[in-house]
Amino acid sequence: MKIFLDVIKKRKSVRSFLAKTVDLALIKEIIALATYAPTSCNQQLWNFIVIDDALTKEKLIKEAAANTLIRRAPVVIAVTYDGWNYKEALQGASLAVGHILLAAEYYGLGALPINSYGADCKVKKILNIPVKEKICCFIALGHPDERAQQSPLVSRRPVEEVFHQGKFRDNNAPPFTYDPNDWSLENLRNHQKYYCRKTFLGKEMDIMNQRERELIKNTLGDIKNNLLDLFSYDGSFLKEFPLLPIIAMDLTQETSAYTRAAVRLFAKNKLLKAAHIIYDDKKKAFTENQQAAISLIYKLERISDALKENLFIQAYNTLRKEGEFIIIARKSNIFLSFFFFAVRLIFGQDVRKTGIYSFFGPYQPVSLRKTKQQLKKAGFRDISWSGYFFIPVFYEQIYQMIKQYIRSGGTSYLHREPKEDAISKFLSFIMKIQGLRKFGLLGSVAVIICRKQ
Ligand SMILES: Cc1cc2nc3c(=O)[nH]c(=O)nc-3n(C[C@H](O)[C@H](O)[C@H](O)COP(=O)(O)O)c2cc1C
Repeated sequence: MKIFLDVIKKRKSVRSFLAKTVDLALIKEIIALATYAPTSCNQQLWNFIVIDDALTKEKLIKEAAANTLIRRAPVVIAVTYDGWNYKEALQGASLAVGHILLAAEYYGLGALPINSYGADCKVKKILNIPVKEKICCFIALGHPDERAQQSPLVSRRPVEEVFHQGKFRDNNAPPFTYDPNDWSLENLRNHQKYYCRKTFLGKEMDIMNQRERELIKNTLGDIKNNLLDLFSYDGSFLKEFPLLPIIAMDLTQETSAYTRAAVRLFAKNKLLKAAHIIYDDKKKAFTENQQAAISLIYKLERISDALKENLFIQAYNTLRKEGEFIIIARKSNIFLSFFFFAVRLIFGQDVRKTGIYSFFGPYQPVSLRKTKQQLKKAGFRDISWSGYFFIPVFYEQIYQMIKQYIRSGGTSYLHREPKEDAISKFLSFIMKIQGLRKFGLLGSVAVIICRKQ
């Protein structure tokens, strides 16, 4: 029998499941336990709709643009509440959701609360939910698969940070702006420790497109020795690396744990071997032994000038003679700048609003000229670079995300069914023609190679 405290501490969100049904009697028992949650005036204004048939799940995905993750969940529970008094009913339903998550953990099941359940009005129609009822959230339920079992628990803020005695005191929260120069190294670490990636282990966050993966593969293809990768941060791109021993460096133990788990996952398919280290900004070099190659993949956009300058000096000191520092980063160009302008105009200045870029921290495409100056200052003399993707390749994904966002009534953008139409076909055609052609300064991605002489 599991101890209550273990149930609380071991529960985690499970996003991938075994193809194994869950006994309906057990689901009923879990919902019965949910009804033990307190409600204002004991109103118990909640309802639980259990969905375990593929047809309804498919309808929710296709018609309401629900998160496609529900397709792989043996059971989905839609938790609704009587909307007569929004606050009271939502409070009660939310407590019931908490009970369901803990009860699932107790019975050895995995569960995930889901906000990205689709457009409310369409979900209500499909599930025959009366007008007066509102949807609190969905909960996916099932037996966790290996990927889910391997996913580390996400860490909790120390209680001292959230504990306020008598009065609220400033607890040094990160700035949540797009500009990396607003973020100290401590802000970045603090954010990364806790901010969850909202998706399953090893799913690419910054690299959404196969062509960008190809670019990584081609760029690193010639490396023959060990590779030190800076700020891997779950490192979904590591699977594109050559089959060489890798040292993956992360900012915190927590992000490093994600990288480790992702590497373990990829290592099944290929012989990927990695050692893991944590970044120390006080050290002269990253490692005691000199390295033949260092990579920084789509992370330069996310760090402040002060951190860049230190990092470049450390990279220089870590490389052996003739060693290479390889940077792949998004650089400003007309299409990328337009995209970020639009994102900030629509969603505002808080990087968390879109969720797309907030995983690592801030986000700002780099200036090539400034980067070269910073690299020279650190000691690099032999610097070559190429620009790729005049039209950012992720426009294809962004287009699908926008469609999903609109179709799902603003509840989801990540897990979606790609929909083909004239625009998507046109974009795909453009991307094909563009391929991995070099565009120089017009490109939206720069590959910078610095050789230590
Ligand atoms: C109300 C609610 C809605 C959520 N919606 C989603 C969702 O749509 N997609 C998702 O992947 N995770 C979702 N989550 C899961 C959170 O990301 C997760 O609880 C958080 O990162 C903490 O991780 P843990 O549950 O493993 O402790 C949701 C959580 C809550 C409480």
